[in-house]
Parts: sequence; structure tokens; C-alpha cells
Amino acid sequence: MARGSFLKREMLVTGGAGFIGSNFIRFAQRADPHIRIHNLDALTYAGSRENLVGLPDPDRHHLIQADICDQARVEELLRDKGIRSIVHFAAESHVDRSIAGPAPFIQTNIVGTFALLEAARRVWLEEAGFGPEEVRFHHVSTDEVYGSLGPEDPPLPETAPYSPNSPYAASKAASDHLVRAYAHTYGLPVTVSNCSNNYGPYQLPEKLIPLVIGNAVSGKSLPLYGDGRQVRDWLYVGDHCSALWRILQEGRPGLVYHIAGGNQPTNEELVRRICSLLDDHLPDSPHRPHEKLITHVQDRPGHDRRYALDTAKIESELGWIPSESMDSGLHKTVMWYLDHEDWIRAIERRPSFQAWLALNYGKREPSR
Ligand code: NAD
Ligand code: TYD
Repeated sequence: MARGSFLKREMLVTGGAGFIGSNFIRFAQRADPHIRIHNLDALTYAGSRENLVGLPDPDRHHLIQADICDQARVEELLRDKGIRSIVHFAAESHVDRSIAGPAPFIQTNIVGTFALLEAARRVWLEEAGFGPEEVRFHHVSTDEVYGSLGPEDPPLPETAPYSPNSPYAASKAASDHLVRAYAHTYGLPVTVSNCSNNYGPYQLPEKLIPLVIGNAVSGKSLPLYGDGRQVRDWLYVGDHCSALWRILQEGRPGLVYHIAGGNQPTNEELVRRICSLLDDHLPDSPHRPHEKLITHVQDRPGHDRRYALDTAKIESELGWIPSESMDSGLHKTVMWYLDHEDWIRAIERRPSFQAWLALNYGKREPSR
């Protein structure tokens, strides 16, 4: 069987109604005019049908509203639809929510990943006896599994030890270990990617960048946790999708790849850049200069100071590099949110979202 023949068959995307998953489905449909995508998504607070409006080819996309923990349902899909690849995004993804209530993180991120792995093992390996180039399980993970770096530490390679600090990071670390164990023990053909912070269209405004854009436009405060000098490595979501696509096409089973943008502003520098973009694009706004809205608030418990990944492996082995700079990616993102204010306001109006804002920010007093 030719290398990567699984790509010519049906693909299961989990969590495809969320931020990165919906961007990935758009990317994959543009990259391959034949691929058919089965999108398994429970449509939790983070997933929505609106994120899938205007797909390049809606006829090649099929949404199944179900929980990844439902192993029997996943097995049925793998058998009945002839699925040969799984790209696994579905997760509880927000660190602050994992601090407020970790239970769903354990259930979806650990138990759910286990259910998917078991379904793939039974249907692909036990029943069908597929070989390593006929099927592929790609697990989408995060740089947060490595824990916090000091300001002078070099970016981490794929061999770095795990040291997760938040319940979210620990649940993703556990899922990474399960994926690795299924490859090692049963020979399931897996690839894993650990990626840095994404930003771009369709990101829920509970995460820093869309929260800041949405609040700034309506003149609300821009909450910076603690001193605002924490560092994340930001990657435009389209570049994450192109890296995943490259791994699916060229990545070798059993390997882990780091994906990151190499952009490392402090949170405060990032928020100031967004404010200045908004100043330029909204010359008549009564809230200019938007940076006057910045408010330092009580820090996140256990807040990791810095993440940074070494991406030499994906660059040298697969020839992937990001195509957006922080400036071009931020510009695109700000423009998308300004053009899609209805999208962001509809989410903000949901009672469950209001309740989250009250819970998370209600207890954070301004700290200076
Ligand atoms: P998201 O929260 O926007 O979307 C998650 C999606 O998963 C939603 O559509 C939700 O409905 C679905 N989902 C949740 N629980 C489910 C369940 N039990 N069964 C089926 N579907 C379920 O998340 P995102 O930001 O798009 O992240 C996607 C993946 O990428 C996650 O695995 C996350 O850990 C990883 N990741 C995210 C980032 C980032 O910056 N956002 C960075 C690195 C890695
Ligand atoms: P976030 O977007 O929640 O992603 P993650 O926690 O996965 O990195 O947060 C990005 C950074 O921004 C992180 O250091 C926490 C910080 N932050 C704030 O300062 N204020 C906020 O309101 C939010 C949501 C995050």
C-alpha cells in the first residue's frame, strides 16, 4: 500500500465545530477537492454550527452530534463510513475553566481520547487488520504539557520531559501518554503534535485575543492577569492547519512534532498591539486610545510564566514553516472580528457565557 493512502479515504475530525477544528475542515477541503469529512462534535458551549457556515464544500462535510466518549458510536462510524484517518481535536480547551471545574477535562480529554483509541484499535487493527500506511490517528496536543519555562530557557524539543501544571495541561498530558502507549503496545499508527497558542477566526471570546478585541470595541476593560509579563508563543490558526496537513501527508507513524510561530510577546505587549490596530481601524471610536482600557487584575492560580517550543524537527523533516508573521496574523484576525461582530456578540449574549464571565472575572479585583 502506498504511503499515506489513508488520506484518499474518509476522514473523521473530532471537535470540528470548535475553533481550530472548523478552521482545519476549511483548510482540508481547499487542500483536497475529494476528501470527505465526518465531523464528530458534541456541540458543547465551545462548538457551534455557525462555525461551519460557508464551508468550501458543504456536501463533503457531515456533522455528527455525539460525544467522543461514546465508543460504540465511534466504532460504528469507523466501520460504516470506511474511515481511515482520525484527526482528534475534541477537548475541553480553556485553562481557566479547568481551574474552576476540572471534571469535564478528565472526562473528555482523557476518557474521550481513550474511547477513540479503543475504537480505532478494535475496528482498524483487530477487525480489519490494517497496516501502518492504511490508517492514521493524529492527536492534536499542546505545548502546555511541558509546564513553565524561565525567561532565558531555550525552546523545548520533542524529547523534553512532561511537567503539566494546570488541570487542562495534565489532562492533555495524560491523553498524549495514552496515544503513545497505543502506538507502542498495539502498533496503532499515530502521530502527535504539540502546538503553541493559536489565534485567528472563530476563536471563542473566552481566550485572550478575541476577548480583548470584543471588549475593546465596546469600551469594556481589558483584563490582564497579574503583571501581564507572561509569555506565550502565538501561531496563526491557518499555519497550525497547514502544519497538521503536512504531518498527515508526510509525517512518520510514531513521531511527535512541535508546531509554533516563534512569536513571543508578553501578554501586555500583545494587548497593546491589538489596541493600536484597533486605534488605526476605528478612527471614530469613542474608546480611543484603546490601551486606556487595560486593567491589571488578580492573577490566574498557578499561572505558567512562559512556553516556547523548538520547531527544528518539523522544519527540517517536513519543510513546514509558518506563513504569517505576528503582524500579518494579528491584522487578519482583528479585521475578521471587526467584520464578524455579530458572531462575537451572539456568543456574548448566551446566558452560559455571561455566567462564565461573572464567575471568572467577578472574583478578580483590579490589582493595580
Ligand atoms: P475549542 O474549545 O474551540 O473546541 C473544542 C471542540 O470540541 C468544540 O467544538 C466542542 O464542542 C468539542 N467537544 C468538546 N468535548 C467534546 C466531547 N466530549 N465529544 C465531542 N466533541 C467535544 O478548542 P480549540 O481551541 O479548537 O482546540 C482544539 C484542540 O487543539 C484541543 O485538543 C486543544 O487542546 C488543542 N490545542 C489548542 C490550542 C489553542 O491555542 N486553542 C493550542 C494547542 C493545542
Ligand atoms: P488564554 O488565551 O486563556 O490561553 P492559555 O491559558 O491556554 O495560554 O490565555 C493566554 C494568556 O493570556 C495567558 O497567559 C493568560 C492570559 N490572560 C489574561 O491575562 N487575561 C485574560 O482575560 C485571559 C483570558 C487570559
